[in-house]
Amino acid sequence: MTKIPKDQFDFLSYAAHQMQHPLGILRGYLDLFFKNPNESDKKVIEDELVRLSYLISQILKLSKVETESLKINFEKVEIISFLRNFFEKFSQIISTHNFVFNEPKEKNLVVSIDRNEMGEALQTLLENAIKYTPQNGTIKLSISSTTKNVIISILDNGPGIPKKIQKKIFDPFYRGSTNKPGSGLGLSIAKKTIELHGGKISVKSEEKKFTEFKFTIPRVLPKKKV
Ligand SMILES: Nc1ncnc2c1ncn2[C@@H]1O[C@H](COP(=O)(O)OP(=O)(O)OP(=O)(O)O)[C@@H](O)[C@H]1O
Ligand SMILES: [Mg+2]
Repeated sequence: MTKIPKDQFDFLSYAAHQMQHPLGILRGYLDLFFKNPNESDKKVIEDELVRLSYLISQILKLSKVETESLKINFEKVEIISFLRNFFEKFSQIISTHNFVFNEPKEKNLVVSIDRNEMGEALQTLLENAIKYTPQNGTIKLSISSTTKNVIISILDNGPGIPKKIQKKIFDPFYRGSTNKPGSGLGLSIAKKTIELHGGKISVKSEEKKFTEFKFTIPRVLPKKKV
């Protein structure tokens, strides 16, 4: 058997520990349910199963991106229309928040991405903005560009992230103090996915004011004519 490095053991034991929580609840409620089948215990069991399977799929996804065994199907994509379509779908489904899309000055920005993987990273950032920003808050997606990169910003006017935890939020399993459900893996997967596309992600935030995640994707520039 290959020797597993210590940090992988740490990850493994942390992951197992996280799974114990929903499993413990499941065990307890299954006992109750078998003694006295009822709708409310059934609902708890279903919810915990969803939570556990979400957690497992996030752990598997993180291990795929971290070991770079994820197959990325790069294709050339015009990023403004890709983001516009993506953002419109989100704003059509969710009516609790205001959505603003800021087009860049420059048109026709081409990047090389895997539509599904980049879509998932984007979804993580938008879902966080929606989850942590109270109803009627505003979520703004803006695109800008430099000669080498496209820069995508997701800004919300939610509670913000305290300075001292801003560095930790990209760590696997790290969660801020929140009563919202989650695995704490979303941002670590999104960060690695963006890095696998040659980009970088950063956060700026001020408590009770705003949170802004910004990430870059390298541009595919037209070949110079000789
Ligand atoms: N837009 C945001 N506003 C305020 N806090 C945020 C925002 N986005 C992320 N956070 C903080 O960063 C932490 C890590 O985010 P991440 O997406 O990795 O995990 P999560 O949202 O807790 O769970 P899940 O991965 O299941 O979505 C969150 O727990 C929250 O404290
Ligand atoms: Mg999240």
